[in-house]
Amino acid sequence: MTSPDHFTPETLDEVRADVFARLARAVKDRRSPMHTPVIATRGIDGAIKARVVVLRAFDAEAVALRFHTDLRAKKIAELNADPHIAFAFYDHQARIQIRAEGTASVHSDDALEEMAWNASLRMSRVCYGVKPAPGAPLDGADDFTLPDDDAAIAAGRAHFSAVLCRIEALEYLFLRHAGHRRSRFTRKADGWSGQWLAP
Ligand SMILES: Cc1cc2nc3c(=O)[nH]c(=O)nc-3n(C[C@H](O)[C@H](O)[C@H](O)COP(=O)(O)O)c2cc1C
Repeated sequence: MTSPDHFTPETLDEVRADVFARLARAVKDRRSPMHTPVIATRGIDGAIKARVVVLRAFDAEAVALRFHTDLRAKKIAELNADPHIAFAFYDHQARIQIRAEGTASVHSDDALEEMAWNASLRMSRVCYGVKPAPGAPLDGADDFTLPDDDAAIAAGRAHFSAVLCRIEALEYLFLRHAGHRRSRFTRKADGWSGQWLAP
């Protein structure tokens, strides 16, 4: 295993800055492997559910991550019942994993939802008009419809939501030939507290 060719943060402050920079880049760079993290929630049946979403925003000041989803999706009912959420990101070239834990709030009828809907592309908006609802059983593989005109796409907005996740803890794992590096950061009243961990 060769070491990836990038800057190695040496202090906890440098690691945290690197984590923030990677999350910010992951939003903008659609080809970044960190653009599509796995999120995990507690299912209504109590079992943990995991799935991929597109990372839509990282607010470095509030330390919050945002993704968009259909209000009819299972994850919405799950987050309404238990807002705890976890993210896992992995950049296989950099050999860096970032984990994030926090609590989610669902925005479906406010300024955040409006900003997010206005910024989303037509090809993304179409999905919110799918009939029947996401996850509904179908008789055949293609027995669903998507809206095809502007009015129908606009009507799908009723199902659109922006999920804002306030992050309480972050974990960084860098797989290195010279020795792995692992650290964890937790939110405190006056900022973030970091700790090196055995990998
Ligand atoms: C690359 C990729 C990106 C995805 N992005 C999203 C997304 O941003 N929001 C979303 O709700 N589902 C997204 N999905 C679909 C989810 O992984 C999942 O199948 C769907 O949301 C239903 O999940 P649920 O029933 O647990 O709510 C994406 C799937 C893939 C493979």
